[in-house]
Amino acid sequence: MSLLLKNCRLCIKDKVFVKNILIRKGKIAKITGKEPKADKVIDARNNFVLPGLIDAHVHFREPGLTHKEDFLTGSMAAAKGGVTTILDMPNTLPPTITIAALEEKRKLAAKSIVNYGFHFGATQDNLEDIRKAKNIAAVKLYMDYTTGDLKVSDFEVIKDILKTSKLTVIHAEDGSVKNVVDILTKNKIKNRVHFAHVSSQKELNYAKQNKIKNQVTVEVTPHHLFMNQNDIQTLGAFAEMKPRLKTEHDQKALWLGIKNETVDIIASDHAPHLKEEKEQANYPFGIPGVETTLPLLLDAFNKNIITLPQITKLCCENPAKIFRIKNKGFLKEGCDADLVIVDLYKRQAVRNDDLLTKCKWSPYDGKILKGWAVMTIVNGNVVYDNEELLDLKAKEVQYGR
Ligand code: NCD
Ligand code: ZN
Repeated sequence: MSLLLKNCRLCIKDKVFVKNILIRKGKIAKITGKEPKADKVIDARNNFVLPGLIDAHVHFREPGLTHKEDFLTGSMAAAKGGVTTILDMPNTLPPTITIAALEEKRKLAAKSIVNYGFHFGATQDNLEDIRKAKNIAAVKLYMDYTTGDLKVSDFEVIKDILKTSKLTVIHAEDGSVKNVVDILTKNKIKNRVHFAHVSSQKELNYAKQNKIKNQVTVEVTPHHLFMNQNDIQTLGAFAEMKPRLKTEHDQKALWLGIKNETVDIIASDHAPHLKEEKEQANYPFGIPGVETTLPLLLDAFNKNIITLPQITKLCCENPAKIFRIKNKGFLKEGCDADLVIVDLYKRQAVRNDDLLTKCKWSPYDGKILKGWAVMTIVNGNVVYDNEELLDLKAKEVQYGR
């Protein structure tokens, strides 16, 4: 089966070209000015085509919390949002902290319509499992309490985890960034560390100090970029997540980090909870986001706040590089045909009713955004086409080490 995507507007090294993309056997076979023959032709109508987004931080809640989300609903939301690969977090029930739980999650994820990978959770005493875990994106370390009880607070244990794992994702909150940087430098640990959802200027500065610059990467979320603590006043629990929304000053510092490239990736921290759960006095922290990341960023592009090459770097290329995901993140011959066609002029409001996430709400409900995904292609298969979804199963990603 071959597919020709005609009239694709592409950014190649900051220049714009209109090309045709030939897809064969799920891979990008050719990017060309010519019109090779193919079994099927789709006209992109001069719309921009980007590599599908790689969302390195989602909570798809399976197993155990599937009333909030599962791999099918989560991946449908992803596909609608132009996300073609997700990396799932371990705070499920049971948590992904043993080989058996990882294998179980692998089976469950087979229903996903976007490609997927897994972060493996660290605990006080699972170093043996960490060593044995195969084909994982990274080891996730929580040093604070959060949904699911995965807190590790003993610095000796943290040191051993950082020493064992080639790449550890740290839930960056409160003192975690400082503590981890101190442990790395004091013990001369050279393994890499990725700080998830960095939300303040202070943390960003601390994470990007010179002495550890080459082993540390930084992730920010759309909600810390597009909201600040003033939004809690209007949205209440629906704008409460970990880490919490910060000041306008911090928000500006994150945007500056995007500009000066101290921020490496944008990931949604898609953490759905039901409306009813959020309405309780003791509500859980977290908000959905996998399907609004790209429209928010395209809207920001239309307001001259971010460029398309920056979006591509932050959401596709850098996640692929940091997590060493094979054949993804780039529109290049030989790479997997994971791509998204975006209509930069499409104006549409985010509407709770339109959302595909099982929780069916978004803090951006009612917000009109300009720039949306109109078609998403995963492994050469169209899975999202103008509001229509196709249930075609995707694959687990592989990593090059
Ligand atoms: C996450 C969740 O709900 O799973 N919540 C959040 O606010 N980010 C947990 C987490 O990653 O801290
Ligand atoms: Zn998270």
